[in-house]
Amino acid sequence: CRFCSNYCTDFFFLSIVFFKQAADLVIQLSSTPKTKPEVSTFGSVFTDHMLTIEWSGTEGWQAPLIKPFGNMSLHPACSSLHYGVQLFEGLKAYRGDDNYLRLFRPMLNMNRMSKSAKRACLPTFDQSEFLECIRRLVEIDQDWVPYSDSAGLYIRPTFISTEPSLGVKKPSHALLYVILCQAGAYFHNEAEALSLWADPKYTRAWKGGTGDCKMGGNYGCSLLAQYEAVDYGCQQVLWLYGEDHQITEAGTMNIFLHWINEDGEEELATPPLDGIILPGVTRQSILELTRKWGEFKVTERYLTMSQLCSALEQQRVREMFGSGTACMICPIGHIVYQGTVSKGSTHPHTHYLSAQ
Ligand SMILES: *Cc1c(COP(=O)(O)O)cnc(C)c1O
Ligand SMILES: *[C@@H]1O[C@H](CO)[C@@H](O)[C@H](O)[C@H]1NC(C)=O
Repeated sequence: CRFCSNYCTDFFFLSIVFFKQAADLVIQLSSTPKTKPEVSTFGSVFTDHMLTIEWSGTEGWQAPLIKPFGNMSLHPACSSLHYGVQLFEGLKAYRGDDNYLRLFRPMLNMNRMSKSAKRACLPTFDQSEFLECIRRLVEIDQDWVPYSDSAGLYIRPTFISTEPSLGVKKPSHALLYVILCQAGAYFHNEAEALSLWADPKYTRAWKGGTGDCKMGGNYGCSLLAQYEAVDYGCQQVLWLYGEDHQITEAGTMNIFLHWINEDGEEELATPPLDGIILPGVTRQSILELTRKWGEFKVTERYLTMSQLCSALEQQRVREMFGSGTACMICPIGHIVYQGTVSKGSTHPHTHYLSAQ
């Protein structure tokens, strides 16, 4: 059948592009481990080691290498620098009360990364072998995982084309690497509720684009809008889409609205994965968790600014929040839209979901 033949082709393809098994991992330990700072600004202090795995079209995947964290040397023409042929992931390792370290649903990140790689014309990799290499890296730098139930170790897998030529083409050289840094605690109280600037002037993602992949270009081109939001006294952009100003994402977070919908039903709603939404692991977890609670309707549906505005006017909004690995759950306090400020309400679920 079609399914089977597709499956077999995939299988064959995978077997020739496997990087060598995690068992071939080469480890070079750092002789000068850093002193660990008290949890620092996000993403500025990295741990002692990094993981690198090189690929070339002719040789396939090389043996994975864990080595001291350090600068890399790249060809100046390398197509990740010129054309943005690259992508990344973000996940966290937490230290439990039992002192064991746990990664939060890492296979979902491996899966998403693999989809992004396909979209970027970067080679396929074996997801579980790669995850095993990441596990070994975290194990080596385990002392960097904060002794805290709210802070964690942020894991940044990165995949770049190292194609050393200016042609716009499918890379024949690539590098998969992973760096780690401490991620401090985020506190969720009302004083810290996010303010959002909603304006159709800028678009984060569009149908047929790459908004559903974690590709660097999506974030670099959002900076200008982010700073314009700050000029309007807001912390983040509420990204709108289309003529009807659909609500899509907040900054680099998925968005949820808990409200009484147009039909008078209590509903937790988030936009559907139609290609312009990043399929967040936190988003998926919130959907699964709240569906299991069965306390209210949980829906993936379109939400427009006019629906939100009338719900706010009629006091049908219970709360809005953003979700993502970095902040987990982040309450939304107010939105600046077409010159008016809409104030949100209290945030009972933000507290509750954060504790789950
Ligand atoms: C990473 C990301 C998210 C959140 O995804 P998680 O897997 O929950 O961290 C949401 N939106 C965008 C645009 C993102 O880049
Ligand atoms: C690594 O690169 C940074 C920025 O270019 C530089 O400041 C630093 O000195 C480099 N480190 C080493 C060890 O070369």
